[in-house]
Amino acid sequence: MGSIILGTGSCLPEREMSNHDLEKLVDTSDEWIVSRTGIETRRISGKGEETYILAATAAGNALEMAQLTADDIDLIIVASMSAHMIMPSCACFVQKELGAKKAFAYDINAACSGFLFALDNGDKYLRVEQNKKILVIGAETLSSRTNWQDRNTCILFGDGAGAVVLEYQEDTRGVVASELFSDGSLWNLLYMHNAPSYNPELEQPDYPGAHIMMEGREVFKYAVKAMEGAIRALLVRENIGIDSIDLMIPHQANIRILKKLVSRLGIDQEKVFINVQKYGNTSAASIPIALDEANREGKLTRGDLLLVCSFGGGFTWGASLLRW
Ligand code: ACO
Repeated sequence: MGSIILGTGSCLPEREMSNHDLEKLVDTSDEWIVSRTGIETRRISGKGEETYILAATAAGNALEMAQLTADDIDLIIVASMSAHMIMPSCACFVQKELGAKKAFAYDINAACSGFLFALDNGDKYLRVEQNKKILVIGAETLSSRTNWQDRNTCILFGDGAGAVVLEYQEDTRGVVASELFSDGSLWNLLYMHNAPSYNPELEQPDYPGAHIMMEGREVFKYAVKAMEGAIRALLVRENIGIDSIDLMIPHQANIRILKKLVSRLGIDQEKVFINVQKYGNTSAASIPIALDEANREGKLTRGDLLLVCSFGGGFTWGASLLRW
C-alpha cells in the first residue's frame, strides 16, 4: 500500500546559458566550471517563464502522462524558494494556471531538499485521505536570486520545474519510507535574505541583497556526509543493502559531490542517474526533473526500487525509497 506515482512531467526554460556565456559575465572558464562542478550548461528563464508557469507546465505534462485532468486533483504542493511573489503562494498560481478548481494549494520551502520534503508531506496526506489525487512539484528560477557578479555561486544554478501525480493505492508500489533532517544551526553556510523589513522598530542591518550566499567548501563536506548518513539510516530502517537499489536519483548539485557520495555508498555508478551537466543545480526542481527524464528514457521498470536523496540550505537533507 502506498502513494504511487501515476505520471511525471518537467519543464525547462528555452534559453541555454553555457559556461562560455558565463565567461563573459565573470572571471571564470569552461574548464574551471566543468572540472569543479561537472556543469556544462544550464537553462535560464525569460519573460513568460516565471516559476509558476514552469511549475504548471511540468504539472500539465505529468497529468497528461497519468491520463488525468486538473479537475481530478485535490491538492497541489509546490516546493520552491524562488516564487515570483511571497503571497499568494506559487502553488496557488499553479492552481489558477491549471484551472484545478477543487484543489487546495500551498508551498513548502526546504531549499534544495524541498521536493523530498513535499513528497513526504503528500505521501502522509494520502495515507489519511486515501481517495485523493495530488500534484507534488519542485520549481525554481534561481536565476532571479543569483548574484551574477559572484563567480562562486552564479556558475552553479539553473532554472526549471518537475512534477509528479500521486495517488494512494492498495499496492506494494509507491513511497516506501523517508528519512528527513534539518540543522538550522548551520544556516549561515548557505542562505538567502528576504527583502529588508519595513518594521520601523527594527534596526536595519546592512542588506546584502536577496541572493544566494554560500561557503562552498563547507557545504560540500556536509552535503556528502549528510546524504550518506540519511541513506544509510533508510537502508537500516528497511533492512536492505545498497545492492537492492535499482536506480538512484540524487539531487543534482555538483558532479564531485555525487562521485564522492557514490564511492562512499559503494553503489554501482551505472545505477546513478546524472543530468547536472545539462541543467546545473535547479534546487528543489532537480529531483523531479531527473525523475521525469529517467522515466521517459525508460530507465524505470515496474517493481524497481528507487532511491532519491537531497541536501540544501537550512541545512535540510534526506533520502526516500520508492517502489516503482
Ligand atoms: N571560476 C574560477 N575560479 C573560481 C570560481 C569560478 N567560477 N569560483 C571560485 N573560484 C576560485 C576562488 O576564488 C578560489 O581562488 P583563490 O584560491 O585565488 O582564492 C579558488 O577558485 C578555489 O576556490 P574554492 O571555493 O576553494 O573552490 P572549490 O574547489 O571548493 O570549488 C565549489 C568551489 C565548486 C563551489 C565547491 O566548493 C562546491 O561544489 N561546493 C558545493 C556547493 C554547492 O553545491 N552548493 C549548492 C547548494 S547546496 C546543494 O545543492 C548541495
